[in-house]
Amino acid sequence: MEKILVLDFGGQYNQLIARRVREINVYAEIIPYNKISAGEIKAAGYKGIIFTGGPNSVYDENSPHCQSDILETGIPVLGICYGCQLIAYLGGGEICSAGEISEYGKTALTVRSSPLFEGVPGKSVCWMSHTDYVKTPPAGYETIAFTDNCPCAALCNSSKNIYGVQFHPEVTHTEYGKKITENFVKNICKCSGDWTTDDFIESSVKRYREELGGKKVLCALSGGVDSSVAAVLMHKAVGDNLICVFVDHGLLRKDEGNTVERVMKEKMGLNIIRINARERFLTALAGVTQPEEKRKIIGREFIRVFEDVAKEIGKVDVLVQGTIYPDVIESGKGDAAVIKSHHNVGGLPDVMEFETIAEPLRNLFKDEVRAAGRKLGIPEELISRQPFPGPGLAIRIIGEITEEKLDILRESDAIFRQEIARAGLGGEINQYFTVLTNCRTVGVMGDAGTYGYTLALRAVTTDDFMTADFARIPFEVLAKASNRITNEVRSIGRVVYDITAKPPATVEWE
Ligand code: XMP
Repeated sequence: MEKILVLDFGGQYNQLIARRVREINVYAEIIPYNKISAGEIKAAGYKGIIFTGGPNSVYDENSPHCQSDILETGIPVLGICYGCQLIAYLGGGEICSAGEISEYGKTALTVRSSPLFEGVPGKSVCWMSHTDYVKTPPAGYETIAFTDNCPCAALCNSSKNIYGVQFHPEVTHTEYGKKITENFVKNICKCSGDWTTDDFIESSVKRYREELGGKKVLCALSGGVDSSVAAVLMHKAVGDNLICVFVDHGLLRKDEGNTVERVMKEKMGLNIIRINARERFLTALAGVTQPEEKRKIIGREFIRVFEDVAKEIGKVDVLVQGTIYPDVIESGKGDAAVIKSHHNVGGLPDVMEFETIAEPLRNLFKDEVRAAGRKLGIPEELISRQPFPGPGLAIRIIGEITEEKLDILRESDAIFRQEIARAGLGGEINQYFTVLTNCRTVGVMGDAGTYGYTLALRAVTTDDFMTADFARIPFEVLAKASNRITNEVRSIGRVVYDITAKPPATVEWE
């Protein structure tokens, strides 16, 4: 399989670079700069290498440097931003700080004729974000682009097929970014661009059929997109040897548990054991008000329920997990501050007796998982669902969780979702839901005074959920949702719209 290596120097757009390459139908993988040697790169058969950006200056004592022999492998290289400066530095060029005139944002770019810029007009707009720049390219390199403030906005050594760009082709604000990436991947690295989701499904099914034929395979369904796609893919490979366990903790949205069971069982033909553990979770959560404690209890109970099921099922050979590529990269990253202890279907390996774990989606990005799910025939209602946190509605009820509050939240959430769908906004907003605050306020209904809960509507737009902005929902849509909720849901006396970005807030309230 043709593949491109994205060598990670810590830049914020690294996943985006890999996605851009995959959008050209070439498989790309991200590896930290210090985790692979020139020899390993050659042996793995990469057709091209992209050095990512990064926050450092190449002269910093602790700045990430790869071995210069990576530039001698004969494999084409494209350095982006810091990656471009590193290429210049390793070749003996001179890097300079732009100081006061550091470039940030959309910038006019002038390019010279080069295989990297085939089909790119002489003048266009690029996205810059840098303080340092290459002042003097190394011997053997020529400058192939510039801006008003950056004398070397791109460089190349055409005999070695090494290129560098100071700007970010992976960002959509770079007008011809896609073309430039395509020129590198297809014309310079000579990739044919034939990697598709179909290939992925076919090769995975074939591989798992061969490797796991006759084995007993278990998959924990969370109801989310990833575990659903992993389960259906695995079912295609091993058929009824796959047992799916769906632990319903009673903290799902309105009708969600039934939908997941119906679709997976009746439509996709999966062998599902649904465990109704609502009471067990509610009992364990009784009186608990702290978010982290809620998360821990849910994680712990989840494992206990699973332990019980595991005893009944007996030893399995393979445990399927819905890990996707961003999880793999994130977990390799080390010590980013823990803001919340996210609970997914984690911890299972400790309680199950099994021989091996299969992670069929570990090389896919979320949108590729969705594409694979559609190809596998999973209905849109499951595939295009917005993300839903493992602890479910428990972290959308501020304070103690009760059955009554869960009902109030479910009804209001369903109405808000209906109104977003009716207004045709579902595709534009990445996550939207309601939050039941613990605050009661005074109101009036008919001639009587009321003292109902305040409900918050939350809706965000985001690329990666690391940062987010509140969605600019038209007032009429908010008005309709508020009106319906206060009329149709008992106990809600006031509705507010959360207009906070992340940071400083998070997407969820707890
Ligand atoms: P925050 O609130 O951290 O949310 O800004 C970012 C994304 O993560 C989801 N989220 C969770 N997902 N377990 C999960 O599986 C959790 O404990 C959890 N907390 C937040 C959130 O819904 C959003 O998509």
